[in-house]
Amino acid sequence: MWEQVQETVSFIQNKINFTPEYGVILGSGLGSFTEEMEIVYTLPYNEIPNFPVSTVQGHKGALVFGTIGDKKVVAMQGRFHFYEGYSMKEVTFPVRVMKYLGMTKLIVSNASGGVNSDYQVGSIVVLKDHINFLPEHPLRGKNDERFGPRFVNMSEPYSRKMIAHASALAVDLGISINLGIYLGLQGPTFETLAEYKMVKILGADCVGMSTVPEVIVARHMDVETFGISVITDMGDAASIDTISHDEVLEAAKGAEPKVRQLIRELVLTY
Ligand code: HPA
Repeated sequence: MWEQVQETVSFIQNKINFTPEYGVILGSGLGSFTEEMEIVYTLPYNEIPNFPVSTVQGHKGALVFGTIGDKKVVAMQGRFHFYEGYSMKEVTFPVRVMKYLGMTKLIVSNASGGVNSDYQVGSIVVLKDHINFLPEHPLRGKNDERFGPRFVNMSEPYSRKMIAHASALAVDLGISINLGIYLGLQGPTFETLAEYKMVKILGADCVGMSTVPEVIVARHMDVETFGISVITDMGDAASIDTISHDEVLEAAKGAEPKVRQLIRELVLTY
């Protein structure tokens, strides 16, 4: 995989002379973030060698290069989910590529279901930790020490410094945030009521189907990581009857301006 990553990095560097400091993975709830960027170059995934091939027709996916103030950013517009059938190596390949393009800080966003009763639809959760309940691990198999160590220290999956900085920014901006724990499940089904209860008992505040693999691989390569989630539905008896993908997207859109603003300021000032 090392050679594949380097080949992809060389391909991109031949197209554009750009060293991004920040990588941003745009999940539901941050899709329009590229509007905060002065876009320099857009590279569709299907033109990038070794990138996973999307089987979904009309699937939007691109690496978007640009600046926010004096900060250089590469954004993933569209991510790869394990439930779509990609291997964990495929799901996380773009994170490795961004690292060798120069990324030292990764910001990951997603939509999730809330199981903390303090939350409501539209709540913004800054991730302080996660629980990995996905059935495959991106680092399983022979370890390549050039990427990072065999046994990765996960004491700080999400940068405490970035969390503190973002928390202070949120106060200044008048944006209410929560600090919470994300549990990653395979999906693609939403959880049953019993499963949402399980998630809560296990100690998490929200549950979703992404993020954990990308964060593990970022930490493998010692990339500083920040995660943010929009609660798009509540996993309780009163709420789960109506959950659908459309509802998730709509709820995520509602919180999007605030998430965008917070991430923009974080990139500018951290
Ligand atoms: N469960 C899993 N993934 C999700 C949810 C949920 O309730 N909401 C948004 N993504």
